[in-house]
Amino acid sequence: MKIDIYSGINELSQSAASLFIEVAQKAIADRGRFLVALSGGSTPMKLYERLAGNKLDWTSVHFFWGDERCVPADDPGNSYGQTKQVLFDKIGDTNIHRINSDLAPDSAATDYTRTLKAFSEPPLDFPRFDLVLLGMGDDGHTASLFPGSPVEVDSPALAVTANYQDRPANRVTLTQTVFNQAREIWFLVAGANKAETLQKVLKGEFQPKVFPAQRIKPVNGNLVWMIDEEAASLL
Ligand code: 6PG
Repeated sequence: MKIDIYSGINELSQSAASLFIEVAQKAIADRGRFLVALSGGSTPMKLYERLAGNKLDWTSVHFFWGDERCVPADDPGNSYGQTKQVLFDKIGDTNIHRINSDLAPDSAATDYTRTLKAFSEPPLDFPRFDLVLLGMGDDGHTASLFPGSPVEVDSPALAVTANYQDRPANRVTLTQTVFNQAREIWFLVAGANKAETLQKVLKGEFQPKVFPAQRIKPVNGNLVWMIDEEAASLL
């Protein structure tokens, strides 16, 4: 595990954008495509904005999500819709595999599991993502794996209901079963409100039921925490 501390969200986003392009170019060169699972939330938005200004063979990129809120694509709470505005509308032809949030949560989870299977890398029933981007809530959740949720899960995707801030409660989330098979997993965490939880997640005892972010442990990949100085203030 690597911890990179940045002066602020702008420096963090700039560095993450450069590294994203690097990892994408290598995946495309090695395997002909780049499979990435994006995160929702506010932290990665500046990264997505910066990516829009970068040159990359976007037609070889396949965008997925680690989770999605079950609201229509044009709802401000929809992660795909937020990213479309700042990235997809600017990069032209690419491959988007969104969680179909127009379906009921259980149906959306089943539908997404089917989509993942089409990109499976046997013996896995789902893709081995080249990159997974994750955030962390101030309660220690990541994607839509929330405190108190079952730790031992083997299904690739789940429908969940969770209340966090003013965000939509019905969601679909990938589970650590999928995340932990990725080649690269990056947490992007910024802001003083994350500092106390981040200290417990990174330096405290292993409590995956309480802090779902601790469930993320790559089987055979790199885990990087990209955090700003405010969030890192108690480390
Ligand atoms: C979501 C994300 C969620 C997010 C954290 C952090 O859909 O909201 O998947 O896990 O990454 O809640 O959100 P912020 O970046 O807005 O603090």
